[in-house]
Amino acid sequence: MYKEIGVFDYSNKVLEKMHPGNFLTTKNGDTINTMIIGWGGVSIEWGKPIFIVLVRDCRATFDLIEASNEFTVSVPLENDLIEAIRVCGTKSLRDINKFEYCNLTPVKGRKIDTPIIGEAELHYECKVVYKQKLEKSAIPEAIKTRYYNPNTSNDFYHTVYYGEIIDQYIYEKE
Ligand SMILES: Cc1cc2nc3c(=O)[nH]c(=O)nc-3n(C[C@H](O)[C@H](O)[C@H](O)COP(=O)(O)O)c2cc1C
Repeated sequence: MYKEIGVFDYSNKVLEKMHPGNFLTTKNGDTINTMIIGWGGVSIEWGKPIFIVLVRDCRATFDLIEASNEFTVSVPLENDLIEAIRVCGTKSLRDINKFEYCNLTPVKGRKIDTPIIGEAELHYECKVVYKQKLEKSAIPEAIKTRYYNPNTSNDFYHTVYYGEIIDQYIYEKE
């Protein structure tokens, strides 16, 4: 059974679970996908509760979120889903269907078209209200060298998506 929660009730859990990682799920038409995020979190902008996520332009997720303008974030709590996190954080939709490969269940979102991950417990449904690609010239050199090195596969900048949280709930055993 899913129980509605206060929008900031579990903000600390979201941040705590950015390591090992949370699921960012996207859908466009019949295509659904999930990837792992380690950056971002719950915040307030323009008086609204906002989930911030950062997605590199090279991800399959980038194409889906650009098309749908919505996403869900699913946070594993007791069920740690470590193996699924490993696969979804390293394999692309372009290689495999991660839901099938990891035996993950897409459960219909309550307010948006994008599903949540049935095996995780804590969920946020979000609609993109603002986005911005990181401005190369504004990033300190040390961060560029570490995270956006042109000599590595990391030579893709992130777009920051601000998703207004329009629903948030947690799975509780009956
Ligand atoms: C712990 C962890 C955190 C990650 N955090 C992010 C992130 O915040 N943003 C991002 O673009 N990629 C991040 N990744 C990488 C993506 O999850 C990974 O490249 C994934 O395979 C992309 O899948 P896709 O091409 O199907 O979208 C992370 C990976 C791991 C393992």
